[in-house]
Amino acid sequence: MVLPDEERAAEVFRAPPDLVREAHVPSLEKYRELYSRSVEEPQEFWGDIAKEFYWRSQHTGPFLQYNFDVTKGKIFIEWMKGATTNICYNLLDRNVYENKLGDKIAFYWEGNEPGESMTITYSELLSKVCQFANVLQEQGVKKGDSVSIYMPMIIELVVAMLACARVGALHSIVFAGFSAESLCERILDSHCSLLITADAFYRGDKLINLKQIADEALQKCKDKDAPLRRCIVVKHLGREELVLDGPSSKSPPLKRLCQSVQEKKTESSKKVHPKIPWDSEVDFWWHDVMKNASKECEPVWCDAEDELFILYTSGSTGKPKGVVHTIGGYMIFTATTFKYVFDHHPEDIYWCTADIGWITGHSYLTYGPLANGATSVLFEGLPIYPDVGRMWSIIDKYKVTKFYTAPTAIRLLMKYGDEHVRKYSRKSLKVLGTVGEPINPEAWLWYYRVVGEERCPIVDTFWQTETGGHVLTPLPSAIPMKPGSATFPFFGVVPAVLDESGEELEGEAEGYLVFKQPWPGIMRTVYKNHPRFETTYFKKFPGYYVTGDGCKRDKDGYYWITGRIDDMLNVSVREKIGPIATPDYIQNAPGLPKTRSGKIMRRVLRKIAKNDRELGDTSTVADAAVINHLFNNRCETIL
Ligand code: PRX
Repeated sequence: MVLPDEERAAEVFRAPPDLVREAHVPSLEKYRELYSRSVEEPQEFWGDIAKEFYWRSQHTGPFLQYNFDVTKGKIFIEWMKGATTNICYNLLDRNVYENKLGDKIAFYWEGNEPGESMTITYSELLSKVCQFANVLQEQGVKKGDSVSIYMPMIIELVVAMLACARVGALHSIVFAGFSAESLCERILDSHCSLLITADAFYRGDKLINLKQIADEALQKCKDKDAPLRRCIVVKHLGREELVLDGPSSKSPPLKRLCQSVQEKKTESSKKVHPKIPWDSEVDFWWHDVMKNASKECEPVWCDAEDELFILYTSGSTGKPKGVVHTIGGYMIFTATTFKYVFDHHPEDIYWCTADIGWITGHSYLTYGPLANGATSVLFEGLPIYPDVGRMWSIIDKYKVTKFYTAPTAIRLLMKYGDEHVRKYSRKSLKVLGTVGEPINPEAWLWYYRVVGEERCPIVDTFWQTETGGHVLTPLPSAIPMKPGSATFPFFGVVPAVLDESGEELEGEAEGYLVFKQPWPGIMRTVYKNHPRFETTYFKKFPGYYVTGDGCKRDKDGYYWITGRIDDMLNVSVREKIGPIATPDYIQNAPGLPKTRSGKIMRRVLRKIAKNDRELGDTSTVADAAVINHLFNNRCETIL
């Protein structure tokens, strides 16, 4: 009997026995045992995990040192300081030479158009990364420098980021949907001297002239005296003539590449290849600089606490924050969360649909999967292009076993009806995941019932750019799931729920979600602005990392994220809050202008209130239609 969704939403769901049998963590008891060890003996717990990686030299001081309390001095977090390593070496060389995974496929690349595809093995990826690392060094990029990357979802994006990591440079990846203004702002803030981009790409039917936008950004930067002088450009849209630059002509990947290009030619004959603006003083083609570069490159050995990358999150008040992650802690945390949360096994085919321009793409398309020697799908296109069955067709094509996407995508696909999903087999699927915002039980149940046919557990992973990896999440075979709940903390993570006065609430409660001690993947600073790091995350409740999210904890100890604290409105009577806070006008709205991470853009709201259409850059708004709606329905009489 199929129960109505309302009743099912109150049910608890468990993984099927065959999944449990092979799981890394097969029971709640095992999870509890590992969890206790991880928080009571973090040094031993993470120390054992660290042994699976290559360290050039061991840490010299304490394994973990930190201060979370602003009243006691500077906030700092250090894991394994003094140890030296290289994350690129651990992801590639270690897997190729020690784990003998050279011939294993690292990525199946699937282009915007069906039929465009390509594969790359671990050893091919290593060669490409070494070549590009040599190019970076030739361009004068040194340890500690930063490099901006503004690229579509192509293999070269992974190559570029890992090459930066190999030479000890920080990558700062800017999502390819952002405007010239956003790119310029991030280039200036990160003080980078080099930009890596591509000619152009198609997002569905829409042509994005990436190089042209990058040029506009560089012009804006030049006006502001930025040090950026060079730009390396991948010929992506005009890739046809570059086939011979691909992997060696006898290897199967080339055959596949040739074949895909053939298909692409027919498809793309309808499409425009724009003229690429070029300045030979500044611009270099990727294939030209790679041509003579050696396929060997000694990694630059770095401290575990050296900076790995900067990733900007758009703040609610304007200037984006450059979230900084460091090498050692981020490496072991993304590797461990990936292994346990997706219950990774060597034969898995894993697909995360996030763009590498976001943290999900950094942690769970690049670093986490590669650290585990996983095979992933890297998808350039859109979920409903050329038709609404695209996702499911890709799952069947590659026999995807673990699939990770966002609630927005799930809701979108749900709208088109079950028949588009059921047309495809999906029988390879074992675990489903979601990330990015609270998932409503209706969407959760649809994902579970229709996509996973009731045999795939769903991992609703709560985390942030700042946390580096999953912090609240089910483990698929260990933690019984409740639709809409991110369930329990991951290893090493100690959550608490606080009230407005900073008191810790026990048992069933609702309030501010905070964390009491550091896990290895937590951010270390805001790039060149440590005071902003301290103020944003540690000032409100000294002694805790403040997520900015609200949450509920139910009687079984399950955590339910209620959304950004920003969204909450204090409702009270005029005497209590004061006459100044009395609204002039209350406007109903379908939504508010928010960033993709759910932060309300107050700057835009203020402009709407003033009826000022000079909004500045709105490319970071998640749903721009909301702004028009708010303008069109505002009350003309507001002052
Ligand atoms: O509000 C939470 C929401 O996304 C925010 C973090 O956004 P960002 O830094 O862009 O990272 C997104 C990908 C990790 C959080 O503060 N969020 C993320 N995952 C969930 C979520 N809200 C509820 N449930 C989730 N699973």
